[in-house]
Amino acid sequence: MAILEVNHIQKSFGGTAVLKDISFSLEKGQVLSIIGSSGSGKTTLLRCLNFLETAESGTIRVNGKTLFDGENHKQLSDGEIRKNRLHFGLVFQSFNLFPQYTVLENVMLAPKLMKKAPAAQLEQRALQLIEKVGLSNRVNNYPCQLSGGQQQRVAIARALALEPDILCFDEPTSALDPELTGEVLRVIRGLKNADRTIIIVTHEMEFARSISDRVIFMADGVIEEEGTPEQVFGNPQSAKTRQFLSSSLEHF
Ligand SMILES: Nc1ncnc2c1ncn2[C@@H]1O[C@H](COP(=O)(O)OP(=O)(O)OP(=O)(O)O)[C@@H](O)[C@H]1O
Ligand SMILES: [Mg+2]
Repeated sequence: MAILEVNHIQKSFGGTAVLKDISFSLEKGQVLSIIGSSGSGKTTLLRCLNFLETAESGTIRVNGKTLFDGENHKQLSDGEIRKNRLHFGLVFQSFNLFPQYTVLENVMLAPKLMKKAPAAQLEQRALQLIEKVGLSNRVNNYPCQLSGGQQQRVAIARALALEPDILCFDEPTSALDPELTGEVLRVIRGLKNADRTIIIVTHEMEFARSISDRVIFMADGVIEEEGTPEQVFGNPQSAKTRQFLSSSLEHF
């Protein structure tokens, strides 16, 4: 069964349709990359999934449970929205760590606020996650003492701390210098190898091609093309996809 089913999502801003009837599904343990040019609606789609934006219509289902139904979304309480959000972990381009907290505190904060377990147990788990992203020697550092790549790895550990079903990345490396990109991509690859379900919006085409089980190419708020990496990168059917891919390759 699909872990995520998105059907007929529509979203507009000020009368301009930004997502036009988006439908896709994702199997547990799969990696889905979303590619597409600037303004095509990739971030808006992730934000709708994470309930940072409210779609106008459509449905979002996780593990067979309807989290969002455009027909009756106004009935959702704040508590329900907060609960729905927990199915997704979100890592942004700009890290967004809390500057006044150490690495350990950043990772522990949300589970602690939610009283997910006794503090000692939460700390143990946070330390394991920090180890997983390769930062055991930095637990007591503050974000300003870390490189961008290290900060992004803390953001990944923090997203994992709430044990989301699906981890969403929005251009996780585009704010990083090229030499720091690799360390973040390696951590994401490690998550795939640990069978995490992942959605990643990225401009790293080689990475998307090698890590993904599915690829979606978005253009002007629609899914222009979808398939395996071999299909979308190797044998694109749509002229828009071909044009996008060839202009992306020019950047190499
Ligand atoms: N809060 C908002 N209010 C009004 N318009 C918005 C808002 N958020 C996004 N948009 C518009 O929606 C469209 C899609 O934006 P979105 O950020 O989803 O694109 P994107 O594919 O993530 O682009 P990029 O690759 O540049 O990050 C754009 O035209 C953008 O200007
Ligand atoms: Mg974006």
